[in-house]
Amino acid sequence: VAIYRQDYRPPDWLVPNVSLDFELDPERTRVRSKLRVTRNGDHDRPLRLAGNGLRPLAVKVDGSEARWTLDGETLVIELTGIEATIETEVEIAPSANSKLMGLYASGGLLCTQCESEGFRRIAFHPDRPDVLSRYSVRMSADKSRFPILLANGNLVASGAGEGNGHWAEWDDPFPKPSYLFAMVAGDLSANRDRFTTMSGREVDLAIWVREKDLPKTRHAMESLKAAMRWDEEVYGREYDLDLFNIVAVDDFNFGAMENKGLNIFNSRYVLADEDTATDADFDNIAGVVAHEYFHNWSGDRVTCRDWFQLSLKEGFTVFRDQSFSGDMGSKAVKRIDDVRLLRAAQFPEDSGPLAHPVRPESYIEITNFYTATVYNKGAEVIRMMRTILGDEAFRKGSDLYFERHDGQAVTCEDFVTAMEDASGIDLGQFRLWYSQAGTPTVEARIDHDAASGQATLHLSQAVPDTPGQTGKAPMVLPLKTALIGADSGEALREERLILLDREEATFTFDGIGETPLLSINRDFSAPVLLNADRRPGELERLAEVDANPFARYEALQELMYRALIAGARGEDADPAPVIAAMRGTLQSNALDPAFKGEALSMPTEGLIGDRMDLVDPEAIHASRDALRQAVGKALADDLARAQEQHASGDDLSPGAKGIRRLKSVSLGLLAAGDPARGAALAKAQYDAADNMTDRQGALAILASLGGPERDAAFAGFHERYKEDSLVLDKWFALQAAAQRADTIDVVEELARHPQFSARNPNRWRALVSHFAANQWAFHHASGRGYRFVTDMILEVDRINPQVAARQVPSLGRWKRFEPNRAALMRAELERIAATPGLSKDVFEQASKSLA
Ligand code: ARG
Ligand code: ZN
Repeated sequence: VAIYRQDYRPPDWLVPNVSLDFELDPERTRVRSKLRVTRNGDHDRPLRLAGNGLRPLAVKVDGSEARWTLDGETLVIELTGIEATIETEVEIAPSANSKLMGLYASGGLLCTQCESEGFRRIAFHPDRPDVLSRYSVRMSADKSRFPILLANGNLVASGAGEGNGHWAEWDDPFPKPSYLFAMVAGDLSANRDRFTTMSGREVDLAIWVREKDLPKTRHAMESLKAAMRWDEEVYGREYDLDLFNIVAVDDFNFGAMENKGLNIFNSRYVLADEDTATDADFDNIAGVVAHEYFHNWSGDRVTCRDWFQLSLKEGFTVFRDQSFSGDMGSKAVKRIDDVRLLRAAQFPEDSGPLAHPVRPESYIEITNFYTATVYNKGAEVIRMMRTILGDEAFRKGSDLYFERHDGQAVTCEDFVTAMEDASGIDLGQFRLWYSQAGTPTVEARIDHDAASGQATLHLSQAVPDTPGQTGKAPMVLPLKTALIGADSGEALREERLILLDREEATFTFDGIGETPLLSINRDFSAPVLLNADRRPGELERLAEVDANPFARYEALQELMYRALIAGARGEDADPAPVIAAMRGTLQSNALDPAFKGEALSMPTEGLIGDRMDLVDPEAIHASRDALRQAVGKALADDLARAQEQHASGDDLSPGAKGIRRLKSVSLGLLAAGDPARGAALAKAQYDAADNMTDRQGALAILASLGGPERDAAFAGFHERYKEDSLVLDKWFALQAAAQRADTIDVVEELARHPQFSARNPNRWRALVSHFAANQWAFHHASGRGYRFVTDMILEVDRINPQVAARQVPSLGRWKRFEPNRAALMRAELERIAATPGLSKDVFEQASKSLA
């Protein structure tokens, strides 16, 4: 049953107050709920309260037994007055909750995850984001097993109960939707700190983990304080409660959750030290801690009217966390990383069977719409608004948005309107970014008339058809553009922001004396696919002289793509231009190591495939291997020098991270050129490593090289980290990502490893998602890779449908592959669709992928 955006109706009943009473126990938790409800508008419809897996044990209206019915799982109560108090009682079993939605058990803790529709697994409730309530919560539990009792808001009272029991009462003064409800009980220790807000309010901060993990919480705490300060300085947003709690749990379906005053995190986004976490892990922690904190305003204080508006909070908050991370480290490198992710995850989504607009029109299961499109393309849409409006007007718009809608549940439209009202800029056509799916394509060509000194830029755009959407209108594409002198290497004019808002347009530049190089879509100012006509030597020159680091990176990547794609097509692919540009980058004194590391990373096989008409994984693999070999041989000396650099493991400065990044990228290329030397160097790097970044970097290369060094290193790694589940995830993931012909054998074996489990989402994804992202291995000509992933999906679907459904898209793009593989992939999708008892999560993904 699909739900449509157009069918939105305001709620029939509001719930100004919720009071909850939990008698917590893993096997049988009693939940007593009391809702104050008021009729919303003049109608005679009954009160309908959503439930999922709940049996009403008692239902009272204003203190007396009430008449009620069940419509499916929905509790229906006829009410006569304009308001009432509804009491319901249910019993739930957190330890049997393998979906990890609602109240569940994780490693001895009890915790909740309610977004999007988990609250209905705890108590009967409208459970829609436009019903906002004040919550008061009483928790009681065994004191020895659950010494810490946490919920949203402020602790108002606590005390001892009967026997071993104790209790706590929490009150959240801010009205919130049920998806932001949270509660945790368990044996936890806190890393405590304080933060003084810009208006002088003192906030107690606590990060709750198992006692042994306390030393690994320092970075998360520093990140939290930095995020709080940043949101004050950049957005004028101040924290609003006396308390801010973060809890880390090991079993979690997503990254983290922004529950008011009580964020709950997947432990991989909290715990880190240099021995167990890579630089990327540290950066991800900072980014996710900031993301969830930023939601306090963009999500909690102003929330979504309905789930079609999800990008209202997610797109904006991703944009905010990206900006924060850019400000904390290198803006250019952060932008390169974000664009790489957009291209790797969102572009394929936008060109496949599950393509949907940033604001979707319909869904069967909302959880399937927590996508790269809603999150990452949504963030690009916000970024474009900032580019078009300018920083100052954008900030005014954000201020107006928060002021106008504080305490409300609103729409993407409300956000855009606030931006328009604050800036005076019409964003009418720009709104198409919310409604039209598909990645726009831009063609660019520049003519130069040396005599008149005039350059003419010809641009055209097209938006491709996507499922259910054809004949699209041209969009507003903000393209940061510069012309650079081919000889001088200098900018010929100031960078100009071109707004391409028609199918075709030309733009002229005067006073252009020398042949211009076209530097366009700088900083990836519009999330489009660009095809620019390039003169011979143009990309090489841009890779050398473009002052915009992102554009410079792009030029080098584009050179690589051209060689890689030619190679994959069996054409003659001369590696010389790529080698020359890479040499120039490596030897440059002006570029920092972090940028060099990014620029020298070759596009993945998946990204190469995305640029081809039909994907032939073998041909792509061979082409990429050949280019890496050629580069590794030609640049061995420069690469060896970069690989020799060392940055101390406890140095987490951007500079030190850059050195480590370049070190392992160089090692990889060296190993491609000379496997024996590569293996020796990788073993040496592994043995000498004083940090996980260098260690994992070396291990990843050994994983693909194979041989005795590989086996010894993996055995040693396992021995050293077998008790540390987050590091053990890396052990699984690195083997699944290995570029080896026998990777399918290895992963089949690993699925039988005693430490593999479908019950822990991190562990399952470490093996299955990493394997499915390994194009060459997953697309094994035999179809074994498809069969393996399908078996895994079907197994985990019985336990945890959300985890299962997120993996289906890896099979869904079958049309993009050569016919034999396409048929094999399709057959597995059909096997999924034909499985009895399939969750609606997986059903939606599989059936749409087959359509
Ligand atoms: N709101 C959370 C975040 O982005 C993620 C929640 C995911 N929920 C879901 N049903 N997929 O920070
Ligand atoms: Zn979010």
